[in-house]
Amino acid sequence: MILYVNGVKHDLSVDPDLELLTVLRNNLGLTGTKYGCGEGACGACTVLINGHATRSCITSIGSVGGKAITTIEGLEKNGSLHKIQMAFLAIDAFQCSFCASGMIMSAVSLLDSNPVPSEDAIIKAMNGNICRCGTYPYIVKAIHSVSKS
Ligand code: FES
Ligand code: FES
Repeated sequence: MILYVNGVKHDLSVDPDLELLTVLRNNLGLTGTKYGCGEGACGACTVLINGHATRSCITSIGSVGGKAITTIEGLEKNGSLHKIQMAFLAIDAFQCSFCASGMIMSAVSLLDSNPVPSEDAIIKAMNGNICRCGTYPYIVKAIHSVSKS
């Protein structure tokens, strides 16, 4: 099976029914994508598939062959973090950080499709990402700061 992850081509012999999250973490060592609920309900495992935020825990590897997969590790370019990563750091939009990878990937997807979202649009787009530490106001603020810049 051919996978394109963060611009790198991988030829893997894996069961096509395996979840993308499992392959990212166990076969490719990309552990920035987190396992939360395992059933599509928390957003911790969010990655981009052809630019769209996708729950990797409920996405079979067989369905993403040949598609562009981007994980949190793929956002940094030439040693520089993505502007959303920078905003999360600047605003301290973390506590334990377990949700952060999925939050950031969802935010990237949102701002790619809507570069200047309203606060309501941010809340609606991020609604499926759960933060057990309750850092939601800071996350919205971080995304808003990027949209204004
Ligand atoms: S681990 Fe995938 S949505 Fe929760
Ligand atoms: S910062 Fe802990 S779950 Fe979000």
